[in-house]
Amino acid sequence: MKKLIATLFGVSLISVLSACGGAGGGGAEIPDTPEGQAFQYRTSVMEAVAYKVGQLRAMAMGEIPVNQELFVKHANDVATLATMIPEGFIPNSAIEGSAALPEIWTNNADFQAKAMDLHTAAQALAMAAQSQGFEAAKGMVQQVGGTCGGCHRPYRRRQE
Ligand code: HEC
Repeated sequence: MKKLIATLFGVSLISVLSACGGAGGGGAEIPDTPEGQAFQYRTSVMEAVAYKVGQLRAMAMGEIPVNQELFVKHANDVATLATMIPEGFIPNSAIEGSAALPEIWTNNADFQAKAMDLHTAAQALAMAAQSQGFEAAKGMVQQVGGTCGGCHRPYRRRQE
């Protein structure tokens, strides 16, 4: 029935229906509040981190062509991105759809230390790759990857 009405009244009705939740499903709307914005910001930072660590890993595993310069850049970028993580976790921003656990705020010094672990590991990787070359440094990608779980385990809700 909805479909028929929608066809009769055209596109505008479809958008009204979905705006009212008529379309069903989908994720929760992210509120346009400081907390919602912080959530969006940190999600983007995490995705950038995940992309770049993925590129580092793929080079280390021989899945994509090795580019020494790009390898150093990705590692440096991850080191910088790591310092941008804590500012995305403003108070009370464990909004609907977020996997952030309350311990982030009750145990904030440790949470920040975990971000620093990622920073330190990525920086060490960049420095090793720069001074000793890709081959000598590629094994250190594993240490960088290890810091993700080091923070996710205590501070991120598990996906069901
Ligand atoms: C200092 C803590 C910390 C570190 C380090 C960290 N993460 Fe996260 N990450 C989180 C938290 C907390 C969330 C959940 C945030 C939320 O949902 O509000 C998250 C969420 C994510 C997400 C989901 C983003 C989305 O689309 O919802 C990805 C992907 C991710 N992290 C990848 C990584 C990778 C890869 C690394 C390591 C290279 C990493 N993270 C390191 C704390 C961390």
